[in-house]
Amino acid sequence: MDSIVVKGGSALNGQIPIAGAKNACLTLMPATLLSDEPLTLTNAPRLSDIRTMTQLLQSLGAEVTSMQDGQVQAMSCHGDINTRAEYDIVRKMRASNLVLGPLLAREGHAEVSLPGGCAIGARPMDIHTDGLAKMGAEIELRDGYLHAKADGGKLKGAVIDFPFASVGATENIMMAATLAKGTTVVNNAAREPEIVDLATCLRAMGAQIDGDGTSSITIQGVDKLHGATHRVVTDRIELGTYMLAPAMCGGEVELLGGKIDLLAAFCEKLDAAGISVSETDKGLKVARKNGRIRAVDVTTEPFPGFPTDLQAQMMALLCTAEGTSVLEEKIFENRFMHAPELVRMGAEIDVHGGTATVTGVEKLKGAPVMATDLRASVSLILAGLAAEGETRVARVYHLDRGYEHVVRKLSGVGADIERIAGE
Ligand code: UD1
Repeated sequence: MDSIVVKGGSALNGQIPIAGAKNACLTLMPATLLSDEPLTLTNAPRLSDIRTMTQLLQSLGAEVTSMQDGQVQAMSCHGDINTRAEYDIVRKMRASNLVLGPLLAREGHAEVSLPGGCAIGARPMDIHTDGLAKMGAEIELRDGYLHAKADGGKLKGAVIDFPFASVGATENIMMAATLAKGTTVVNNAAREPEIVDLATCLRAMGAQIDGDGTSSITIQGVDKLHGATHRVVTDRIELGTYMLAPAMCGGEVELLGGKIDLLAAFCEKLDAAGISVSETDKGLKVARKNGRIRAVDVTTEPFPGFPTDLQAQMMALLCTAEGTSVLEEKIFENRFMHAPELVRMGAEIDVHGGTATVTGVEKLKGAPVMATDLRASVSLILAGLAAEGETRVARVYHLDRGYEHVVRKLSGVGADIERIAGE
């Protein structure tokens, strides 16, 4: 397995282009199942998760053509399709469950493997299935698969009150409701930019959706959706990750395509920590203000709160802050696996349940480390860039899931980073 070797200490200067959002692309791709006509996505990120979604859609009978080095995904799904999403693909990536709503809407039935747990927690699907049941689906779990069938072969509009603003459940119900009979209202819906991006794409395909970006979304079912071309929204998590690089290493970096409104809560915390963020005509410019980073407390929340997907990277920043920071993880029950690895680099972190207390040290020191999930891996790269000496991050396949060209992007602003092929 490949690893990434980072030598810390270089200040970072220059520009980093930010890709299209992985999490938006993973929900936009299954939308192709809702129409017989082609759906083309531009600004797609070049990531292994996108290739996994391609394989899944192909296994269901969609044609997927990747063009311009993967930045354009042209999809088409006409004629008969297969409604079974196999465990072998679903287990690789939880977002595979986003085919459930579209398959059920198109064919009136679907068999989708349950994804199982993942490193950051149990991640059940009850909010998805309870919502679809309200729309008239009968769903039972057999042989590890959800077997879903719409009563009378077609889903019906319903008023659905989510117990929690689940991102994936909002996306699945929104897609399912576009072709349902009647009107669906989702209350306590997720408000993430990726939800707005999906709604924008579905509207371009002829769907009638209102209220995306608020906690109540209304979808008026239509008989048919048509083809469209849609540009994937900027990846706010890749953006936030690279904003932390100059904050931790010094220098000034411009993040091309960045916007503050994608990350307002995160930018507020950076300001409090002593990092300046300013908008330019091409994106965002980030630099550390004078002096040491200051400690700040962070609680992860659904959008517009502080994103859980930036918690690990923020912890890496706070390891060298002046003072003590408290990080509370409210979205996933087991999302501090990076903490013991950061401790191996000299950080002082105490974890109790969903709370991590970080007491800043002057400097981190390079060490061999590894992580069991995507965002944890990149937090170790950031820590390595700011540390004294050499850090070797193993299990790079996690990074390949969510960060395209990480070595090229960081070395382009002056980082000493290379990928070493595994033995
Ligand atoms: C999406 C993102 C992920 C991000 C997360 C929270 C994608 C592909 N992934 O994941 O990167 O970290 O949002 O911002 O977009 N839950 C239930 N029952 C359900 C569904 C969820 O209990 O039916 C719980 C989960 O276990 C978790 C919390 O709700 O504790 C949040 O999950 P959710 O918002 O659904 O996240 P995902 O859509 O899986």
